[in-house]
Amino acid sequence: MKAKRIGVLTAGGDCPGLNAVVRGVTKHALQNGMEVLGFKNGFDGLVKNDFMFLDDRCVSGIITRGGTILGTSNLANPFAYTLPPLGSPKEPKDLTANVLNTIKENKVDALVAIGGDGTLSMAQKFIELGVKIVGVPKTIDNDLSATDFTFGFDSALSAATDAVDRIHTTAESHHRIMIIETMGRYAGWIALRSCIAGGGDICLIPEIPYNDDAIAKAIEDRRAKGKTFSIIVAAEGAVNEKGEMAVQRTIEGSTDPVRLGGISGKVAAMLEQKLGLECRVVVLGHLQRGGTPTAFDRWLSTRFGTEAVELILKNQYGNMVALRGGDIISVPIKQAVAKLKKVDPSGEEVRSALAVGTSFGSNKIG
Ligand code: F6P
Repeated sequence: MKAKRIGVLTAGGDCPGLNAVVRGVTKHALQNGMEVLGFKNGFDGLVKNDFMFLDDRCVSGIITRGGTILGTSNLANPFAYTLPPLGSPKEPKDLTANVLNTIKENKVDALVAIGGDGTLSMAQKFIELGVKIVGVPKTIDNDLSATDFTFGFDSALSAATDAVDRIHTTAESHHRIMIIETMGRYAGWIALRSCIAGGGDICLIPEIPYNDDAIAKAIEDRRAKGKTFSIIVAAEGAVNEKGEMAVQRTIEGSTDPVRLGGISGKVAAMLEQKLGLECRVVVLGHLQRGGTPTAFDRWLSTRFGTEAVELILKNQYGNMVALRGGDIISVPIKQAVAKLKKVDPSGEEVRSALAVGTSFGSNKIG
């Protein structure tokens, strides 16, 4: 049966390129005679039957705009809903029936779910309940194994690299240690690539547990060579050799169950104490998620959006679009969320960083 009416939603943390996907989906679906409903704030729009009709005018001029015109949420989980007034953090409710009703009532034949690991895992559960869904992979962390790139990553990387460049000049002038904290919960792609691209000196990532003494030694070695400043790029999810992360707090019901942050402050305090040198920290946080998508992300998002509609036209539900080499392919969502894509500590990228003298704050590699 040809889909006549489709829904689209953006869920989880936002990132540059979401609007470009919504535009790609809408324009291609309209060209093929379908109606498009944009559900608001991720799965919350399906729980609350909250949507807007998307026509050509709604998506005109949004390719350059960051964020998402549909809104998003990483707290609205219909399987364990904690948001008042429908749910409560103490008593999460199962509101899957609301979602199924919304789909039925509005005669939505298929859904395009745009999101990361958490969103796509939720989508998979709805697929198992009989909902026709295609997925589009989003996350600045670039940690989905089924695709070479998620959109949003390139924009975040460019923001992080710009920060490393800017910090360089001030660090050099003041002979300081500057620590730049990037996002990256379980994968260190943003930290690693911005450190390589910005010529950072020490890179701390979740895949290579760091050791305090090894970080201090890397700084002392630089000073012995006359280099009076050092730049450390640390992923928020970096772990020490005891496996400890910088966790701010846990969040009930979220697709991201812990809020990370503070690795830079922790390492700065340790270095000031060990070396007696002045350290400053810069937490990039959501600066990496906001703003205009890069050309690469707009290009990728548009291709992902139009291909998601192609999958609907071919009745290939349960799949996610992905980039492999230069091609857009599709993979089962189930397979796509099974494994995170992490930096390989013995891979070429890490070896290349080591080859230009970057330290990973560890005695166990290189
Ligand atoms: O998953 C993407 C991400 O950017 C992570 O790197 C980060 O930990 C998380 O989102 C933060 O999300 P928020 O602050 O929106 O809860």
